[in-house]
Amino acid sequence: MTTSNTSAVDYNFDVVRQFTVMTVIWGIFGTLVGVLIAAQLIWPALNFDTPWLTYSRLRPLHTNVVIFAFGTSALFATSYYVVQRTCQTRLFGGKLVAFTFWGWQAVIVAAVITLPLGYTSSKEYAEMEWPIDILLAVVWISYAIVFFGTLVKRKVSHIYVANWFFGAFILVIMVLHIGNSMAIPISAMKSYSIYSGAIDAMMQWWYGHNAVGFLLTAGFLGMMYYFVPKQAERPVYSYRLSIVHFWALISLYIWAGPHHLHYTALPDWVQTVGMTMSIVLFLPSWGGMINGIMTLSGAWHKLRTDPILRFLIVSLSFYGMSTFEGPMMAIKSVNALSHYTDWTIGHVHSGALGWVAMISIGAMYHLIPILFNQGRMYSIRMINVHFWLHTSGVILYIVAMWISGVMQGLMWRAVNTDGTLTYSFVESLTASYPFYFIRFIGGVLVVSGFILMGYNMLKTIYAKDGSLQPVEET
Ligand code: HEM
Ligand code: HEM
Repeated sequence: MTTSNTSAVDYNFDVVRQFTVMTVIWGIFGTLVGVLIAAQLIWPALNFDTPWLTYSRLRPLHTNVVIFAFGTSALFATSYYVVQRTCQTRLFGGKLVAFTFWGWQAVIVAAVITLPLGYTSSKEYAEMEWPIDILLAVVWISYAIVFFGTLVKRKVSHIYVANWFFGAFILVIMVLHIGNSMAIPISAMKSYSIYSGAIDAMMQWWYGHNAVGFLLTAGFLGMMYYFVPKQAERPVYSYRLSIVHFWALISLYIWAGPHHLHYTALPDWVQTVGMTMSIVLFLPSWGGMINGIMTLSGAWHKLRTDPILRFLIVSLSFYGMSTFEGPMMAIKSVNALSHYTDWTIGHVHSGALGWVAMISIGAMYHLIPILFNQGRMYSIRMINVHFWLHTSGVILYIVAMWISGVMQGLMWRAVNTDGTLTYSFVESLTASYPFYFIRFIGGVLVVSGFILMGYNMLKTIYAKDGSLQPVEET
């Protein structure tokens, strides 16, 4: 079936359906691996002395699956849906569209097999080896052709702001991936970066930070600008602010990478530029968050009854929280405490589990009934339970990591009057165990929510066409 039930335009929703279903499946898998590695940090024996089950190999599996399989599938699904709806036209590209789906799943399956086998370029978030990198580049260029081709053949003159964010995310990730993955292969599954030393580190974190800025942020802001107004049934709070937000965000993010390399061999002035740009970045980040939250003006009461809207709005508060915390951690003296500690991990997951996962979950709950000819999800109650499981899980996770992180930082720098260290490293590790356990419990709650979502999705897909009707508000 290739047409929608809501419009006369012959939209291509097949690919949107495929990416939507895979988002939920990869979400379950990625968070399950997250829980396993969280458990291994408490009970190391859980690697069963098996090389491919060791923490060092499963950690990159977790990050690659949650970012590229779960998060990016959500971005493919929503960008393909939004660009068609707002441009009132079918996706450009014919068979290329299906290629982006199958090609992307092939990239992920290749990563899922090779990372546990120990094949890695050792660059964080760019661990996949060169043959997979090449496939990834080909799929991504095809994605760009489909997306921008659709924009070109649009039936309305205006380009809605969500597409600006999606477009920036697609273009910048293409440049970053190709730039950072330049390598010389020495065998079928091993290569070395063409960059060396501090230049390599600089390239890597130019990539790494902008993967955060453009994939984990700009793409999901595209999602926000479409799904928050839709679900709230209100126009965007300020369209003018959304344009300022866009230009300010993309022109600042690109400079902030060096905040990952404070106190390293990178020239001092470059670190200072990174720090300064990161602090200024607070402004557009909060401008965007306020624009999203204020879209609810006059519709706040909907939060009481609509758990999908709750997912979307709470995701924005986590976005606000992590983009306040990030600029703070970019200040050199603060970073001297936070770097290498669990504070960073807390920051990452307030962004990843709070912002990225919650906005995606909200968008998926909005989309699934539309894509499968239903008026609503199979069970609204289950969405509600999911909301509370996820929110409590995230809070347990990040609070535990904040406390553990600040504690580690303070223990590592404590010195006695004679100048010797007050604590050994092992003492700081022992002190972290209770917090690792709390994080593990938080993770279990998050995974339970995802599994419930999978069940709710299946019941919606397999319900008789049109049998699930919206519940009237009382
Ligand atoms: C204004 C926005 C932000 C700024 C200025 C910022 C800044 C920072 C800083 C200073 C670090 C620590 C670097 C270190 O000590 O190594 C960091 C780490 C990180 N942040 Fe953010 N952050 C922001 C928003 C976000 C958001 C929204 C997300 C996720 C959705 C995110 C994901 C990450 C990740 C994944 C890392 C860990 C990188 C690594 O070392 O592997 N950040 N960020
Ligand atoms: C059940 C949910 C989750 C659990 C239990 C979990 C657990 C973990 C653990 C234990 C680590 C390694 C921490 C360390 O090295 O000290 C980690 C790293 C990471 N996770 Fe998760 N995670 C979850 C969900 C997610 C999601 C949904 C995302 C992204 C959308 C994500 C992104 C990351 C990233 C980027 C890192 C690397 C951080 C860094 O290097 O600084 N996680 N996760």
